Amino acid sequence: MLHERVPDLAKFVEPDRVRREVYTDPQIFELEMERIHERVWIYCGHESQVPKPGDYYTVQIGRQPMLMVRGADGAVRVLYNRCPHRGSMLCGDRFGNTGEFFRCSYHSWTFHHDGSLRNIPMMESGYAGTRWGRDNPDCHVKPAARVERYRGFVFASLVQDGPTLKEFLGESRIAFDDMCDRAPEGEVEVVPNCFRVIQNSNWKIFLENQLDALHPSVTHQSTGRAAHDVELAIERKTGRAPLSYHMLSAFATVTIDKWDAFQTLNYPNGHCILTGYMGLRPRDPDTLEYERVMEKAYGKQHTEEILGVNIHHVLIYPGLSVQSPLQQLRAVRPLGVDRTLTEIWHFRLKGAPEPIYRRALAYYNLVNSPSTMINADDLENFWKCHQGLSSDGGDWVSFHRHYGRDVEKPGVVETAPGLGTSEAPMRNQMKAWSQFMTAER
Ligand code: FES
Ligand SMILES: [Fe+2]
Repeated sequence: MLHERVPDLAKFVEPDRVRREVYTDPQIFELEMERIHERVWIYCGHESQVPKPGDYYTVQIGRQPMLMVRGADGAVRVLYNRCPHRGSMLCGDRFGNTGEFFRCSYHSWTFHHDGSLRNIPMMESGYAGTRWGRDNPDCHVKPAARVERYRGFVFASLVQDGPTLKEFLGESRIAFDDMCDRAPEGEVEVVPNCFRVIQNSNWKIFLENQLDALHPSVTHQSTGRAAHDVELAIERKTGRAPLSYHMLSAFATVTIDKWDAFQTLNYPNGHCILTGYMGLRPRDPDTLEYERVMEKAYGKQHTEEILGVNIHHVLIYPGLSVQSPLQQLRAVRPLGVDRTLTEIWHFRLKGAPEPIYRRALAYYNLVNSPSTMINADDLENFWKCHQGLSSDGGDWVSFHRHYGRDVEKPGVVETAPGLGTSEAPMRNQMKAWSQFMTAER
């Protein structure tokens, strides 16, 4: 049906502009779920969310309710959250421990952690002579087609074919390397639980905002100014303001021209990196102590290499935004064409001193949580964009900023020096969207 009404999806996306229906048409949304989210590698969670056998965490992949579970064998698997009997979700809670097996609350079919059938009531008397049987795959909980981990971060793909996780992530793997390498023990662990926010806007509006280097000094200027005033007052009084004020004041002190000094790197599959650093390597005693612990673990030279990585933000298309130097991760779960869930997580660097964790927590609360003005201002923009795009006030979304000036290199499109606010990341995401949506299958 849709194929007749939308004969050529590629026509919705031009290199420098996109039709508004891409954000507002429910049928295009259904196709996106089928061709993108239920096909490519989607982040499920961190393995530390399910440390013990039987621990599970539910997760939405496209339109599919899934669950991530730790087996008695230590393996982390991803299964459809659906009982093979009459279809009930196996886990109604968001997370928990299922014990030695899953037991469906409807008619008590039970399943091992890998989804295979364990037992059902009156197995012999009830099913003899029927098509039901252990050899019938329909009698077991269906697993995700593919599950892979990268440095403890678990991804699933719901189709058998396609690139490996490593191939799919490509250069964006640095999000996880940068985060984990900053831990003296080389690993991070999740800090339960996450914030969940439902945005009344299309999922792509959130993603396009993540590397939109022009908006912080506009949208967040008022918050930044207020924080800067207080920061200066404290400084005058005590000689030094807490670093947390800098996390907010940077939105006012890093003006548009300064954002242009940073750079975005745009990779295949829609992934993008924003370089730049918000002055998070001060010479305060906490940082110096952390550097000492790092040097003990890695040596002076390698510590410098790790702490010198110059990344502010990595966007992993189509559903992950990672701020690795501050151990922040936001997962995007589309719920409908105009409804998007974001899960906002942060992590602890294993082996790092407590004040360094406190720094990540401060950024989590001050910048990414639903209670901060930063997040609220972004959410209002997203909602207003969705409302405007739903109107007849225009057909196109503009991604013209610095179009034609980006530097194309093999495997990467870089913004030109001094043009860091180029809308190259949005163009790159829509290029990937177009490729996924129109790929031969
Ligand atoms: S629906 Fe699960 S046992 Fe019947
Ligand atoms: Fe923002």
